[in-house]
Amino acid sequence: MHSMMSLLATFVVLLSVSLSTSISIEETFNNCLSLHSQIPNQFPTSIYTSTNKSYTSILESTAQNLRYLLPSVPKPDFIFTPFHESQVQAAVICAKQHGIHLRIRSGGHDYEGLSYVSLIEKPFMILDLVKLRAVNVDIPHNTAWIQAGATIGEVYYRISEKSSVHGFPAGLCTTLGIGGLITGGAYGSMMRKYGLGVDNVIDAKIVDANGKILDRKAMGEDLFWAIRGGGGGSFGVILWWKIKLVPVPQTVTVFTVTKSLEQGANKLLYRWQQVAPNIDENLFIRVIIQQGNGSVPGQRTVTTSYQALFLGGVNRLLQVMKKSFPELGLTRKDCLETSWIKSVLYIAGYPNDTPPEILLKGKPTSKAYFKAKSDFVRQVIPETSLNTLWKVFLQDDGALMIWNPYGGMMSRIAESATPFPHRKGTLYKIQYLTGWIDGEKNMAKHMRWMRKFYYYMTPYASKYPRENYVNYRDLDIGMNQKNSTSLSLAYSWGYRYFKGNFNRLVKVKTKVDPSNFFRHEQSIPPLAIGKKM
Ligand SMILES: Cc1cc2nc3c(=O)[nH]c(=O)nc-3n(C[C@H](O)[C@H](O)[C@H](O)COP(=O)(O)OP(=O)(O)OC[C@H]3O[C@@H](n4cnc5c(N)ncnc54)[C@H](O)[C@@H]3O)c2cc1C
Ligand SMILES: *[C@@H]1O[C@H](CO)[C@@H](O)[C@H](O)[C@H]1NC(C)=O
Ligand SMILES: *[C@@H]1O[C@H](CO)[C@@H](O)[C@H](O)[C@H]1NC(C)=O
Ligand SMILES: *[C@@H]1O[C@H](CO)[C@@H](O)[C@H](O)[C@H]1NC(C)=O
Repeated sequence: MHSMMSLLATFVVLLSVSLSTSISIEETFNNCLSLHSQIPNQFPTSIYTSTNKSYTSILESTAQNLRYLLPSVPKPDFIFTPFHESQVQAAVICAKQHGIHLRIRSGGHDYEGLSYVSLIEKPFMILDLVKLRAVNVDIPHNTAWIQAGATIGEVYYRISEKSSVHGFPAGLCTTLGIGGLITGGAYGSMMRKYGLGVDNVIDAKIVDANGKILDRKAMGEDLFWAIRGGGGGSFGVILWWKIKLVPVPQTVTVFTVTKSLEQGANKLLYRWQQVAPNIDENLFIRVIIQQGNGSVPGQRTVTTSYQALFLGGVNRLLQVMKKSFPELGLTRKDCLETSWIKSVLYIAGYPNDTPPEILLKGKPTSKAYFKAKSDFVRQVIPETSLNTLWKVFLQDDGALMIWNPYGGMMSRIAESATPFPHRKGTLYKIQYLTGWIDGEKNMAKHMRWMRKFYYYMTPYASKYPRENYVNYRDLDIGMNQKNSTSLSLAYSWGYRYFKGNFNRLVKVKTKVDPSNFFRHEQSIPPLAIGKKM
């Protein structure tokens, strides 16, 4: 009894000491780091607090969605940019020990800013992997080890530097960080031929919730399964992916053909829905749907741009199109024969003569305020319904849709092979986006429009569940429920992102991170959900 009292007294004294000296959270973290880094002196400890001149530029550097940089949005207490893996391990150990909420950032393209903003907890820090961006390509073995902070554009470039007949099937946008990209799926213009990025990952290195580095063998097949599509920020910090390279031809062909409503866009789009998911799997034709000027001054129209990559030369492409999609009226003049790496630049929207070295810049070229959503479509939308949709589509001046065909390899991979379940039976994915540049001024209007348009699309979207792409993170999903800490809430987005795979993800999470150290607004919850989510 006596010893218990003195213990309590000591505790109270300790507590008041720590309160009165009140050393800052970053000092506590920094002290802890130097204790835990294996090579403390070899690398600088780069911690940026809000008083540091570089804080803002580092925070904003890769942040894609300006909506999450607005003054009203919470800012991190500090940003840590490790130079070495052991510092990542130390960061996990120290954040855990001192109760600092941690966000992991690789390329900063998260649609809801989850890698640099916490809407649920304070204090929080960013673990920014921007300095960890090695890409080691091994052509003789058709593999590469790629570090989480590298962009997918750097990966493409480093592959092409060593071989013109190797490639990798992942993102279209070249500034995506592979840390976040591959955790959620990673689709691109070769998906119909080779599947997603996650379908071509063969090993990984991850820092788990105990600060240990695990490779595939050490983590086991359950965790290795979960990190290939279960979404970022739930299971640990990915340090490296080992990817399998795929063959690409010496010459590929690209084209973009645009048709407005006046030029018969509806009929063509109706036809595309039937053709694009079933056509030759060397051919990927996506449709970019925007607003344009009509033939009468002041009148708005809808334009549909058919943008394609064909893994082969123009002669073969023209044969395929003549047989399967003559309605588009593709001619040799529309086509450009090029190398795979230049097709990457073309699809990413760079002007024709841009040198591939731009991919090494590693930073986003443009940013906007935006809100986006996604749908998977399993039934062709009737031609007559399209006209009704355009009426709502034209109500927002920042509206954009991208329709992305499935089929081919995507239909041959089982729904449970990876956490990414949108496989057989999916005709195409729709991405809805509204972007603007004037900050908060018209934000509410754009957000309202997006939700309204998404509501209008309900009859045409997949059902039970209405499926969504986890890498198009959408915090609207599940927001209609009150209790944001319950597992049932997680189920609302969990089933929509992962379908039946959600249950297995929860099991893996429960095993590898039962205290829920890695968490965010939509992270996979452990079963014994306790207090934090
Ligand atoms: C302009 C644009 C174009 C896009 N194009 C495509 C496309 O073509 N194909 C496609 O599939 N997707 C595309 N996306 C979506 C993209 O895949 C996701 O936004 C993806 O999460 C981005 O990864 P990141 O590393 O850049 O993002 P981040 O914002 O850094 O991270 C995203 C999420 O993953 C977590 N995370 C980041 N790094 C790690 C890590 N090392 N270990 C564990 N968790 C981590 C973060 O905490 C966050 O939750 C696009 C997005 C944008 C903004
Ligand atoms: C800002 O932080 C960096 C990294 O920790 C440090 O090297 C630099 O000296 C700091 N600058 C100022 C003005 O405090
Ligand atoms: C549409 O017309 C407006 C005004 O005439 C013009 O400023 C704009 O550039 C045009 N947009 C396109 C896509 O042609
Ligand atoms: C939320 O759900 C959890 C778990 O189901 C429960 O323990 C908690 O009491 C709920 N909170 C509220 C405010 O309803």
